Amino acid sequence: MQNISFYQSVVTDYLKQYSSTKEPKNLYDPIHYILELGGKRLRPVLTLMTAEVFDANYQTALNAALSVEVFHNFSLVHDDIMDDAPLRRGQQTVHEKWDVNTGILSGDAMLIMAYQLFENYQPHTFQALAKLFSKTALEVCEGQQYDVDFETRDDVTIPEYLKMIEYKTAVLVGAAMQMGAIVAGTSVENQNSIYQFGKNLGIAFQLQDDYLDAFGDPKTFGKQVGGDIIENKKTYLYLKALEFLNQQEKRQLEQLFTVNLEDNSDKIDTVKQFFVNSGSAEATQQAIEEYTNKAFQVLEALSISETKKEILREFGMGLMTRKV
Ligand code: IPE
Ligand code: IPE
Ligand code: MG
Ligand code: MG
Ligand code: MG
Repeated sequence: MQNISFYQSVVTDYLKQYSSTKEPKNLYDPIHYILELGGKRLRPVLTLMTAEVFDANYQTALNAALSVEVFHNFSLVHDDIMDDAPLRRGQQTVHEKWDVNTGILSGDAMLIMAYQLFENYQPHTFQALAKLFSKTALEVCEGQQYDVDFETRDDVTIPEYLKMIEYKTAVLVGAAMQMGAIVAGTSVENQNSIYQFGKNLGIAFQLQDDYLDAFGDPKTFGKQVGGDIIENKKTYLYLKALEFLNQQEKRQLEQLFTVNLEDNSDKIDTVKQFFVNSGSAEATQQAIEEYTNKAFQVLEALSISETKKEILREFGMGLMTRKV
């Protein structure tokens, strides 16, 4: 097994090969644009790494890895429409650079392309990959719908929030790893364990995403800082703040999350102060650590070498301390 940066460069090279210019331009240009905009490539890296964890050559998992990354990018194009987001990876979002209709159709095409990549596998593997993919993709849709529904609800609970992020984000991280395990032909038991590892890591990952959305550095974050506050997203930061604040402050924060303003800078500042002063920013950091440790516990029980466990732990630690 190699180090993480090796798999990252493999993914980047393979993506370059995959992208070819086709007609009509207004369908394919946005696809190349988003795929080549960069990004951390963490899901395909996990697919390749998992294949090697279970003693296969990473090359056998390249098409599954690419599929996961294409699906992820599809979900970002549609997510940015739904979240009215202007920036992605430091550049204009697809629907800003082109328009909403272009984002919808290019996204649809990417979803099909993701599926199509499984055709590179033999029937037995194809079926297992497609089955996992369909289940996961539907869950992502469910998570995304909850996320939007919660914007206008004022009674969202922490368990509901956790379920929502499990679906919109964590299951894909789990599936990315399970796909590597499927390609490697390992036991169903190992497949399930590595899925659980990835899912817990994915929950920590989305908690960190929510944290960075409020507290990330605008110069390096690559997305609009405060975007979740503008959209009244019921994140862990928000829900914990409501739990910790006194009645009057709680009402004030709730009130702020009912409005859609022209100029949001005051709203963002006030809300961030509530997040810090109430202790919810710290509680979020703790939850990130908890879910990362939960993932590490699952890893402990797996019968793979200590060296491999160490590389996966390093990956998890890296996610926890990330700034983008
Ligand atoms: C962003 O995912 C969407 C979430 C699920 C939080 P990433 O943070 O992995 O995005 P890129 O691919 O690195 O840009
Ligand atoms: C994204 O959640 C989840 C999916 C794309 C399925 P967010 O809406 O928090 O992701 P970002 O912050 O826009 O990357
Ligand atoms: Mg978003
Ligand atoms: Mg979203
Ligand atoms: Mg986010």
